[in-house]
Amino acid sequence: MIYPSWALDGEGDGSQRPNAPALRALWAERRLSNALLDQSGVWRFRELLPFLDTPEHAVTLREGNTPLYALPQCAQRVGLEKLYAKHQGMNPTGSFKDTGMTAALSVAREKNFPWVACASTGNTSAAMAAYAARAGMRALVLIPDGKVAWGKLAQSVDYGALTCQLKTDFDGCVRVLAEIVERAPVYLLNSVNPYRLEGQKTPALEMAEQMGWQVPDHILVPGGNLANGAALGKGFREMHALGLTDRLPRISVIQAQGANPLYTSWHEYKGERLEAVQANTRATAIRIGNPASWKKTVHTLRETGGFCEQVSEQEIAIAKAEIGAEGIGCEPASAVTYAGLKKLCAQGKVHREESVVLVLTGHTLKDPEYTIDFHRGTLLTEAETAKLNASEKESLRKLAKPPMLLEPTSDAVLRQLEAVGSK
Ligand code: F0G
Repeated sequence: MIYPSWALDGEGDGSQRPNAPALRALWAERRLSNALLDQSGVWRFRELLPFLDTPEHAVTLREGNTPLYALPQCAQRVGLEKLYAKHQGMNPTGSFKDTGMTAALSVAREKNFPWVACASTGNTSAAMAAYAARAGMRALVLIPDGKVAWGKLAQSVDYGALTCQLKTDFDGCVRVLAEIVERAPVYLLNSVNPYRLEGQKTPALEMAEQMGWQVPDHILVPGGNLANGAALGKGFREMHALGLTDRLPRISVIQAQGANPLYTSWHEYKGERLEAVQANTRATAIRIGNPASWKKTVHTLRETGGFCEQVSEQEIAIAKAEIGAEGIGCEPASAVTYAGLKKLCAQGKVHREESVVLVLTGHTLKDPEYTIDFHRGTLLTEAETAKLNASEKESLRKLAKPPMLLEPTSDAVLRQLEAVGSK
C-alpha cells in the first residue's frame, strides 16, 4: 500500500517509511482537536486508511478511543503481573464492529450504494444499522432466529434496519446473503469486506499508543467468523513495517468448544484445512460453524506464534462473571479470552512477567439475560454443573450475586446486609 503525503525518514532514498515520531505526535495531537474526523479513534489514524476519495465524508459516530483497563484481580488469579482489557465494548454501539463499520460503510456511501447488508450474530448488524442510519442509507439485516441476544436485536430495529430473522443459524444466513448480493444492488458489509478489516486494525494502533508504543507480549481474541484476530495482526504488522513499533505481539485465538472449527483445524490439520461444524454455544456472537476468514487467522497465528484454545460453556460463564466482578463486564463471547488465558497459563504457555491484553469485544449490556441467568443459577444445565470441579463449584458459589425479592422494610434489607457481612 502506498501512503501518500508523508514526511519520510532520510531524504530522497525512495523509502516509504514515514517519520515515526512525527506520525505518533500527529495522532496524539488529534485527540485534542474538536474536528469530527480527529475525534474518531479510527480516522485519527487516517494516514493508514488511504482508501476514501474524500475522507471528510467518512460516516463516523466517534468510534474507537476505547479504554485499556488493568484487570488486577484476574491477573492475580492467573499469576500474571500485567493483565489488561482492551474494551472494544465501549464503542458507540457497544462492540468492536464499529471500528470496521465506519470504514466499510463510508466506502459504500462513496460508491453510492442505496442498500448495505450483512448476515450477523447480532453485533455487526447493530453497528451496520446505526452507521447506515447516520449515512441516510438503507440497511438489510439477516440474523438467525432465536439466537441473537436481545440488546443486539433491539439495536437493529431501533436504528431502523429491515431486520429479517431467518429460520436458520448464522452460517445459513451467510448462504442466503451470498445469493442476495448476486441478485440485488446491495453492498456486502460482512467481515469478508476488506475495508472492515482496515478499520478493525486500528485498535492495534491504539493499544500500542496506550502502552507508550511498546507492543504487549500477548493478545487474546475470541474467534467467531475469524476476521478480528487477522485485522489486529494486520495492524501490528503494518506498525512494525513502518518503524512505529519494534516487534509483533503473539496473537492467540480462543473459541467456544461448541463452535470450534478453527481449534480443530489448527490442532488436527495444522491449519491446512477447515471442516465446518454444527455450532452451538450460549456465546451467541461466536456461534459460527463455517468461518469465512479462517485462512487469514491461521496466517496470523503462524506469523505471531499464537495459540488456539477452546473453552467450555462452564469456563466461559465463570470467566465472564470474574471480569464483571472487576467492574468492567463484557458479553459472553468476549469472556472466552480470559477463560482461554487461564488454560494457557495452566499449560505454562504464558509467563508471569509477560504483558497480556484481552480484547473484550462486546459490552455486558448486549446480553443481560445471560448474566441474570448466571447469577440466578439457571444458566447451566444440571449436567453441565455436575461436570464442574471443586474449585469451579467454589467460584460459582462466590460469584453468584442473584437479585433478591424482599419485603419493603429496612429490617428485611438489613438482615441481608448482616448475612453477607458474616460470610
Ligand atoms: N466477539 C463478539 C462480541 C462478536 O460479535 C464477534 C463476531 C466476535 C467476537 C468474533 O469476531 O467474527 O471477527 O472472529 N460477531 C459477528 C457478528 C460474527 O455478526 O456480529 P470474528
